[in-house]
Amino acid sequence: MNDYSGRVVIVTGAGSGMGRAMVGEFVARGANVAALDINIKNAVDTVEGLANPSMAYALQADVSDPHSAQKAVNAVIERWGRVDLLCNNAGILDGHSTAHEVSIEEWNRVIAVNLTGPFLMARAVIPQMLKQGKGAIINTSSTSGFSAAGGGTAYTASKHGVIGLTRQLTFEYGARGIRVNTICPGATATPLAMAGQTTEHSPDMEAALQKFPARRWCQPAEIAKLAAYLGGDDADFVHGSEYVIDGGWLAAARDPF
Ligand SMILES: NC(=O)c1ccc[n+]([C@@H]2O[C@H](COP(=O)([O-])OP(=O)(O)OC[C@H]3O[C@@H](n4cnc5c(N)ncnc54)[C@H](O)[C@@H]3O)[C@@H](O)[C@H]2O)c1
Repeated sequence: MNDYSGRVVIVTGAGSGMGRAMVGEFVARGANVAALDINIKNAVDTVEGLANPSMAYALQADVSDPHSAQKAVNAVIERWGRVDLLCNNAGILDGHSTAHEVSIEEWNRVIAVNLTGPFLMARAVIPQMLKQGKGAIINTSSTSGFSAAGGGTAYTASKHGVIGLTRQLTFEYGARGIRVNTICPGATATPLAMAGQTTEHSPDMEAALQKFPARRWCQPAEIAKLAAYLGGDDADFVHGSEYVIDGGWLAAARDPF
């Protein structure tokens, strides 16, 4: 099991769902964790909910804003002197809008947070990781990184893009000590997934889940455990891969809805 003692981890989207679970998992394994979120109150709640809150601190930033992303990374380096792992977890769902219905504003916002955000955060940490000669980045995509139907046009396009970003970063930096991998969760019981149940185009997830092997929601803690594996030395040979954790959703590959 990966021990993160002495390691510095940045988790984006740390105020909720999978990000909150990741903060708990990394702190439990000995890391110092920067819990970054656009919603500082929720990030503070994440840190205050830890058994050992002094190992983490809450950081307000918008990953889609180049200045904000860089400033947040600078603050972490100033505080702890290094960055060993970046978890690009922050993301937003679209309104399941189809291509002719999605507004340009919705398209731009989803791409900005889900795809440009991981790029900006990676760009900000890579110089430090190159200096260290070692580092890891985990990008969160989705089953929507492989198939349609889990979201609308913007969400699916953004999550496909995240996989391409991982592969390109691996090509560019793998030989220089930076491992980059993608986690592709299926339906996971978080506020994002629950909010995704409320628009007129929303799929009936409860019914859909019954068609797939695991027949249940994934729990955020299960995603956090996968992140803890991929971010540490046990995964030293793992570069540029997509780790699907979806209860068999993609493998079963039938129309979920
Ligand atoms: N829940 C699912 O079923 C599911 C499935 C596949 C993939 N995902 C992906 O997993 C990741 C985590 O999702 P979750 O379900 O835990 O969502 P969530 O809504 O519970 O948490 C997402 C967090 O990201 C933060 N955030 C949003 N925009 C931000 C920004 N611009 N800058 C910084 N922080 C921002 C939010 O404030 C929130 O705290 C996302 O990338 C999501 O697309 C979720």
